Amino acid sequence: MKTLIKNGTIVTASDTYKADILIEGEKIALIGNDLKEDGAEIIDAEGLVLMPGGIDGHTHLDMPFGGTTTADDFFTGQRAAAFGGTTTHIDFALQQKGGTLLEGVEMWKKKAEGKAVIDYGFHIAVTDPGEAMVREIEKLPAAGITSLKVFQQYKGLFMVDDTTLFQVMQAAKKAGVLVMIHSENGDVTDIVTKQLVAAGKTDVKYHLVAHPREIEAEATGRAIALAGVTGCKLYVVHMTCEDAVLEMKLGRARGYKVMGETCTQYMFKFEDDMRVPGYEGAKWACGPPVRTPKDAEYLWKSLADTTLQFVATDHCSFDFEGGKNGKKPGKELGKAGFHKIPNGIPGIEDRMPVMYHNGVNGGRYDINRFVAITATNPAKVHGLYPKKGTIAVGSDADIVFWDLNKEHTISAKTHHMNVDYNAYEGMKVKGWPVRTILRGKSIVVDGEWKQEKGAGQFIKRHSGEFL
Ligand code: URP
Ligand code: ZN
Ligand code: ZN
Repeated sequence: MKTLIKNGTIVTASDTYKADILIEGEKIALIGNDLKEDGAEIIDAEGLVLMPGGIDGHTHLDMPFGGTTTADDFFTGQRAAAFGGTTTHIDFALQQKGGTLLEGVEMWKKKAEGKAVIDYGFHIAVTDPGEAMVREIEKLPAAGITSLKVFQQYKGLFMVDDTTLFQVMQAAKKAGVLVMIHSENGDVTDIVTKQLVAAGKTDVKYHLVAHPREIEAEATGRAIALAGVTGCKLYVVHMTCEDAVLEMKLGRARGYKVMGETCTQYMFKFEDDMRVPGYEGAKWACGPPVRTPKDAEYLWKSLADTTLQFVATDHCSFDFEGGKNGKKPGKELGKAGFHKIPNGIPGIEDRMPVMYHNGVNGGRYDINRFVAITATNPAKVHGLYPKKGTIAVGSDADIVFWDLNKEHTISAKTHHMNVDYNAYEGMKVKGWPVRTILRGKSIVVDGEWKQEKGAGQFIKRHSGEFL
């Protein structure tokens, strides 16, 4: 099966140029001018930009959390991702209490089997520390798992102490595994939450009091210091504020192998959105929490100036009004108190258009930087490159056709995520994915779904780069 894409403008993290692309089977076979190929299906991309399919390095599909399970499974979540121009994601598999890391990965593979419609890998999240877990880290790369996540937050559930953190970092350095970290001081959140609840302060807005920026910055700085001592590669997930990013700047200036991710929601949702009267603010409860417009501007700047390397979604969807019409319980669980709100915000479908429109049209970075932070950098760091994350001969033909002039108003009424609200409701974006190709196959064309359930593939990843 051959496909020839004619007349498009190719945009990668480094170049912008007009050329044709010949796809043979699942791979890009040739890039050049005036290509001809007998028997190939011709797709005319005149006036369109061709970018590598998006790679979302941080998602939670079908994950038990906060007393329920995330609303999107591997079918609904991945299908929504494809509609938004994302062709690969890396989800967090959870180690089970009493289980091994690789058993956690196997469990998550089963969740995806028969449902996957785009390609995917797994990070493994440590939930049961101990010597056996630390010893197992060296076995991860052979299974294609080259990153793990540890938590400095969620005391009593996922949180690890500095002993475990340091041992994990040492083992990861030896094994060539990337350490990813949720940086917030969970001891402080635990104490403050208990005090607030005892004082009857359980409204949504107190979530912010239990997760102040200082404890994000402190934990980030601590993790970075330990990464410096051990020499491991560290990836700080969901960074929200200037205070934490300053720690990242310092660590990078010291020559430590540390990198940072932020997420779409931190650009658009703020503390004031959580302080509205009533329960509406629960939609934006996540950890670390949303901050301020000033922090958002600092994050935009940090994505542009390479202090931060990635924008992911931390897609973790819970219905605002769940638990009815056959749906899982959702945010309504937190009406019993802010500490019971399932933490997380949906966005796997929205990341690319929202970050394109507000970033590129908004004059915050150029289109090549957009490709870097949404596709190429995650591919490089998570060991997917050059199979994924670029448009080059030999790479998987994962291509998103971007119509720079197409306008769309984002809404829960039209999105494909299995969740009853959208963080970007009413946002008008210009620039829209009109076709998504995964390994040579058009899986979304002009809003029409073309993919078979189960056709997405698990990818064994190699050790990634430091950026
Ligand atoms: O609130 C969040 N971020 N939910 C997802 C779990 C995590 O910590 O990434
Ligand atoms: Zn986290
Ligand atoms: Zn997450």
